[in-house]
Amino acid sequence: MSTHDSVLRVGMVGYAFMGAAHSQAWRTVNRVYDLPARVQMALICGRDEPKVAEAAGRLGWDAHTTDWRRLVESDEIDVVDICTPGDSHCEIAIAALAAGKHVLCEKPLANTVEEARQMTAAAALARAAGVRAMCGFNYRRVPAVALMRQLVADGRLGEIRHVRAVYLQDWIVDPQFPLVWRLQQDRAGSGALGDIGAHIIDLTQYVTGQRIAGVSAVTETFVKERPLPAGSSGLAAQADGNGRAMGRVTVDDAAVFVARLDGGALATYEASRFATGRKNALRVEINGSLGSVVFDLERLNELEFHDATRPAAEQGFNRILVTEPEHPYMSAWWPPGHIIGYEHSFTHQMRDFVEAVATGVDPAPSFADALQVQLVLDAVTRSAEQAAWTEVEPALAELAA
Ligand SMILES: NC(=O)c1ccc[n+]([C@@H]2O[C@H](COP(=O)([O-])OP(=O)(O)OC[C@H]3O[C@@H](n4cnc5c(N)ncnc54)[C@H](O)[C@@H]3O)[C@@H](O)[C@H]2O)c1
Repeated sequence: MSTHDSVLRVGMVGYAFMGAAHSQAWRTVNRVYDLPARVQMALICGRDEPKVAEAAGRLGWDAHTTDWRRLVESDEIDVVDICTPGDSHCEIAIAALAAGKHVLCEKPLANTVEEARQMTAAAALARAAGVRAMCGFNYRRVPAVALMRQLVADGRLGEIRHVRAVYLQDWIVDPQFPLVWRLQQDRAGSGALGDIGAHIIDLTQYVTGQRIAGVSAVTETFVKERPLPAGSSGLAAQADGNGRAMGRVTVDDAAVFVARLDGGALATYEASRFATGRKNALRVEINGSLGSVVFDLERLNELEFHDATRPAAEQGFNRILVTEPEHPYMSAWWPPGHIIGYEHSFTHQMRDFVEAVATGVDPAPSFADALQVQLVLDAVTRSAEQAAWTEVEPALAELAA
């Protein structure tokens, strides 16, 4: 680890969707924010040599490798950024922490609670040596979401009574869409639940400061078999009536659940990849005794706020354009009214991570925070299987035990 020279040498594993989003953010963060350390995009890893070499050039990395162990063990790396599917998070993160590398790991933290526990324990051990770990729930870093949290923390909503959260997509409505890794439990852990449901679980726990204490859930897999992707090994495949190799979908297509938060609020959650017409629709509404807030990712520069303490004649939902320098993260960007987008949440994520690492404080969400999300995912799955109300244990009590 070498933060003494104020350079953080980053090694990133995975170079597709999140790899590109993270690269953009690593490249941008020092140009926008005045930070105590400078990021060096040192090494990128993928399994296919020509493809990772091409990605290194395109995304702006100094060097590439096909061996994540080499990256993790390299003396020339300070930070390991994990942008791979969930089946490799645990092994890479634990190896990186053991090698004294700070870790940023994409969400969901792991594929199982057991893995998330191991990762959280490894992070706690590494922390004693000044090594930091964070999970990439980037939507916390949308300025309107951070403002929503501030309003709740400042008591502007009063007592929180309702949380209503949906995260909807439609990219697998077509039954001919292939059986990619996100549709395989051994690779992804779960389906819509862990992929997009995890985001609204984290976001609502973060904004309200309350933990999901119990859930009652239903889940469904609408399309149970899909064509194997081109280049797939075809192992364990069945042919359909047209001779195409098919494989079983082993995750949920949609998950719906009600929950109780430990501060007394009632909550509803819906995560689906079958919401036809909804591309990436994340919406959260919170109702309190003194007011309400609404966030919609498709209008991410805005926050709707109803202040019930105003005179009755002036009440109603006000649209706050979250682009003032007073708003979280915004002072470094453009003049008021000049809006930002999806990728900025990642730049903000890297800002917070670099600042925490360089100043020796713990970044959030910690692996323990992400374990708490994993415990909810697990409770939702068990609740749906058993058709039963299911309590969610607190991760911190478990860690203290
Ligand atoms: N924060 C967000 O909003 C967000 C959005 C999408 C995905 N994610 C998360 O990011 C992670 C990656 O998702 P993605 O959409 O980028 O997937 P992707 O399929 O686009 O990319 C995965 C990358 O990992 C590489 N890879 C897979 N296994 C590997 C291994 N064993 N060693 C080295 N490289 C390996 C692949 O070659 C590819 O480059 C997942 O955990 C996912 O849940 C987060």
